Amino acid sequence: MAGVDVAFTPLSEAAALYARVRRVVPPIAWAGFEGDIEAILALKRQRNAVILAHNYQTPEIFHCVADIVGDSLALAREAARTEAAVIVMAGVHFMAETAKLLNPEKTVLIPDLRAGCSLADSITPADIAGLRAAHPGVPVVTYVNTSAAVKAASDICCTSGNVRRIVEGLGVPRVILIPDEFLARNVARETGVEIITWSGHCEVHERFTAQEIRAMRETHPGLTVLAHPECPPEVVAEADFAGSTAMMDEYVTRHQPSRVALITECSMSDNIAARNPGVDFIRPCNLCPHMKRITLPAIRRALETMTHEVTIPAALAAPARAAVERMLAF
Ligand code: 13P
Ligand code: SF4
Repeated sequence: MAGVDVAFTPLSEAAALYARVRRVVPPIAWAGFEGDIEAILALKRQRNAVILAHNYQTPEIFHCVADIVGDSLALAREAARTEAAVIVMAGVHFMAETAKLLNPEKTVLIPDLRAGCSLADSITPADIAGLRAAHPGVPVVTYVNTSAAVKAASDICCTSGNVRRIVEGLGVPRVILIPDEFLARNVARETGVEIITWSGHCEVHERFTAQEIRAMRETHPGLTVLAHPECPPEVVAEADFAGSTAMMDEYVTRHQPSRVALITECSMSDNIAARNPGVDFIRPCNLCPHMKRITLPAIRRALETMTHEVTIPAALAAPARAAVERMLAF
């Protein structure tokens, strides 16, 4: 048409990312995210930063600004490999501490210092000393959901992705596995190893009940149920499969169940649903208030102001790092 200039307007970097999350993020919500996403992408380049995001982060973080995503084990492994100068942990505080332990020379930022964990809060180094005194010679296997100080008092760390391998691989008849009582009882059931544990619980997973799973199966025939091993043993007993968040993701991607329920934190279903259009997700989820402290504005602020930097006293860092590195080498 003569005289009319129909200019092609390319999509902004952020707008082009909407395709990744359109199944789980409505356009009205997306409109509020785009500005922060654009700013975060630019800040990452400017600061030579990477964003590591746990599977429980919301889809706009997980699919649109994160460089590396995964379960606690994958995040620890990838933190050990990154060449960036700055690591932003879109997860909770113990994950940022683990990244710092493996990268003492790098700047590790946690966007909100209140992103804690009920398991990490449930045990102290003095409690470990008490367990060692009560059970001399029994190795202490510590879930990564703990403070650096607790890791420093341990022999080896584990995550839900490798706990069974580590407990069995130690080749001893008894281990102290702390602080998650349910994870310990679930592992004890699967292995022949006697397990001494602690009374810590995940405030997200302890709320699921076996009755809830049975009711869901009645309402949704043909349902596949995947549970996290931080759930009570009677809940895990009702599930078709139990594993870490990455193992659940892999299960859905590989088996493509027609209808699935993930017995875990809410954002897991959204993140997996975004890339599995053929799977119907029933969502009986519980929110983790700590994971939800991390938002796009908080990540943007972290990169703008380079806060909050995670530091670990040298006397704790060396033994805590050794416990994490023993796990990674296992
Ligand atoms: P994983 O992602 O390692 O399974 O852990 C779940 C969890 O609760 C982390 O806080
Ligand atoms: Fe901690 Fe549970 Fe939240 Fe994970 S989901 S960070 S274990 S409170």
